[in-house]
This record gives sequence, C-alpha cells and structure tokens, in this order.
Amino acid sequence: MVDVTQDVLVKRIGYEAERINSYELVARTGGELAPFTAGSHIDLQLPNGMIRSYSLVNDQRERHRYVIAVNKDAESRGGSSFVHDSVRVGDIMTISRPRNNFALHEEADHSVLIAGGIGITPLLSMIRRLEAIGRCWELFYAARTRAAAAFLDELDTLERGSRIHLDFDDERSGRLFDLPAIVGNASAHTHLYCCGPVPMLTAFEAATADRPADHVHVEYFQARETPATEGGFDVKLARSNRTIAVERGKTILDALLDAGITANYACTEGVCGTCETRVIEGTPDHRDQFLSKEEQAANKSVMICCSGAKSRTLVLDL
Ligand code: FES
Repeated sequence: MVDVTQDVLVKRIGYEAERINSYELVARTGGELAPFTAGSHIDLQLPNGMIRSYSLVNDQRERHRYVIAVNKDAESRGGSSFVHDSVRVGDIMTISRPRNNFALHEEADHSVLIAGGIGITPLLSMIRRLEAIGRCWELFYAARTRAAAAFLDELDTLERGSRIHLDFDDERSGRLFDLPAIVGNASAHTHLYCCGPVPMLTAFEAATADRPADHVHVEYFQARETPATEGGFDVKLARSNRTIAVERGKTILDALLDAGITANYACTEGVCGTCETRVIEGTPDHRDQFLSKEEQAANKSVMICCSGAKSRTLVLDL
C-alpha cells in the first residue's frame, strides 16, 4: 500500500518500441495533477494487488498529465505484463503522488546521462528540463536493437551536434559502450547520472568510485541483492508496543503484514524508498539500493521490504 493516492484516467496508450508502451494519465475529474520534478516516479496500484513504480517521462512543466513508459519484461512477475495485457484506454487507475529519489542538479555546468534500455525514462524527463533551463548535457543510450529503443524520435528532435550517443548491441562495429571512458572523459565538475539494468549500474558505480558522491546519481529499477529472509530476530514496534517475530523465509514486511500491521511499501525490491522506516535501536542488515553507503552505515533507517537484522532485536518507529 502507498500512503497518498489519487485516481487517474488512462487517456492514451502509445507504442514506443518493441515491448515498450507509454501511458498518458490525467486527473479522473479533470484539472491539474500534483507537480513533479524531473527524475520523479509514481507508484501504480494494480488491480492484481501489485504495486509498481514507473518514472515520469514528460516535461515537469506539464500539470495536466503524467506520462510513464512500461517495458514488458520477459521475466515479469505480473507487474509490467499486467499493465501491457490488461490496462486499456479509459481505465481508472490508482497512483501515488510523485516522489523523486533521482533528482536533477540543475545548477551543474554539465550533465552526462547514461541510459540502458527502459532506463531512458527518467533521463528523458531530465533532458527536457535541462533543455528548458538552457543547461549543457550529453546522453549515452544503449539498447539491444534500434527497434527496442524507446523515444528515439523525440531524441532526434532534440539532437544538436554530438550530444546524443546511441549504442545498439546488434550494430556494433568495434565501438563499445565504454563506461570507464565515458566517465573518464567527463570533467571533474560534471554530474553523472545512470539508469539501466543492474550490470550497467554496477559498472557505472565502479567507474565513478573516485568521483565525489554528490556528483554521481544512480537509479535502480531492480534489486541487486537478494532480500533478507533468514529470519531469526524480533521487530519491536515502538509506537504500538508490539513485538513481531520475523521467521525464516519472511522479510520484515512479510512478517508485519501477516500480523495485520499496516505498512507503506511499493516495489518490495529495495529500490523505491517507500518502505523506509526509522530505526530506534538495533543493527539492520541492509539489502537495498536506495540508501547511500553512508546512510546504511549510520543505521538510522531501514528498508523493511528487503533488509533484515544483524542484532537479535530491531526497534522500529512503527
Ligand atoms: S518498498 Fe520499495 S524500497 Fe521497500
């Protein structure tokens, strides 16, 4: 469940690339939607009970619509395939308000954006913003094939000079999508953004390890680590004064929901931040990609959908 929701109407569905559709969502009763900034996402509460997060693709100056793009993942566990197979124009959907975990630093002199596949979505919104405020940017966009790359038409209308670098697996002729070189060629003041599949993000993080952390920005769509389901510890809920045992095979979130406790969550993979919970006492076993290394080391909060505990008890602000 997500905390603040609103109903929207599916106004338009568009074909953007092989297995990628865009969905234009407008307020059910007309009028304006809550504002958002480039890099934001919304959570869709699907009728099959799943909650999935999707980045907003459109221009943040637009208040009459949200546009998302959904990649029908071959390994979908019911999220993207449900959207592709079941959502139709005219449907009403429940969504969260936009949240931004991947904010654009508008003051940067130069921004380098690196996208893999559907990872183009938040970056496209960022490009629209950088264009609107007259900032300098460069895009590196990799996809399996040209036909599988979404929004190429729109990128074409933006292209000036050599700021957009496309790389398709099936068209390579000795030219590799070389992340260390891309990062190495960027000036020390450049802000670097990456969104794509886990191997790309891992390579990006390795290539940027020596850069200042506040100049390096990553958005994960999928979990990199397996969730903590080893169990064997208790969660004490400070506000309700209850103690819940987390058994083997369950995450903290599973244990709470099974005990009838209401908790906020969306992705259940440690990437969206919706389930972040303050830690009052104890040591979490962090398995998320949302908190920075420093935040994880501080142990002040935990993503209860995927993280466990290193201590026998974890006292949470719930
Ligand atoms: S629900 Fe998304 S990080 Fe936990």
